[in-house]
Amino acid sequence: MTREELIGINVGIVESVVSGVLTNSPNAIIVMVSNPMDTMTYLTLKLSKLSKNKVIGMGGALDSSRFKTYLSIALNKPANQIEGMVIGGHGDTTMIPLTRLATYNGIPVSHFLSEKELDKISSDTMVGGATLTKLLGTSAWYAPGASVSYLVDSILNNRHLLIPCSVLLEGEYDQKDICMGVPCIISKNGVESILDLKLNPDEIKKFQNSSASVRSMNDALKDI
Ligand code: LAC
Repeated sequence: MTREELIGINVGIVESVVSGVLTNSPNAIIVMVSNPMDTMTYLTLKLSKLSKNKVIGMGGALDSSRFKTYLSIALNKPANQIEGMVIGGHGDTTMIPLTRLATYNGIPVSHFLSEKELDKISSDTMVGGATLTKLLGTSAWYAPGASVSYLVDSILNNRHLLIPCSVLLEGEYDQKDICMGVPCIISKNGVESILDLKLNPDEIKKFQNSSASVRSMNDALKDI
């Protein structure tokens, strides 16, 4: 079994899809959803030779929607008054729900929820996909579709929405040559800009651990 097969990627198929996309739509902005999503985004960027703003991995939008849902349930308050973001890898052990920055109508959620409750919300968020798969047999259901359309809407209508997406990092978050979920402004150009948030020491450590895990997946693609 090749190293790519070990991580569930058939590089030849990705290559043929990417070249098909670019043959028919040379100015495409590619939104990657397939898992392992961060590594697939990185592979697509390499194979396509597109500029980094035109290859976007969708994971953070979906994970953040689950994060906000769990916060809404815990607070027993409407989800449309809750803001929260998940960054890092799109994996059960690599996601980083930013509980410190989550708010209920502008008020930090830590005002309403204990650290223990927030830890539970974080861990439930991180396995959101696996939870759905246990219940439905798949997590590739309505939510990923809605998350992709939210992202595509910001591109097509040049909305400049702030959405956590997996994009190539070139020094942001002290990371290089890796695609991971970070806050991005999404416009008609794809990734308009990356917000390099000031993380606290605990979040920095989590981001470093997350990047190490994503990098170990990327290593399977070393010869490409
Ligand atoms: C999920 C898959 C789409 O998180 O990655 O449900």
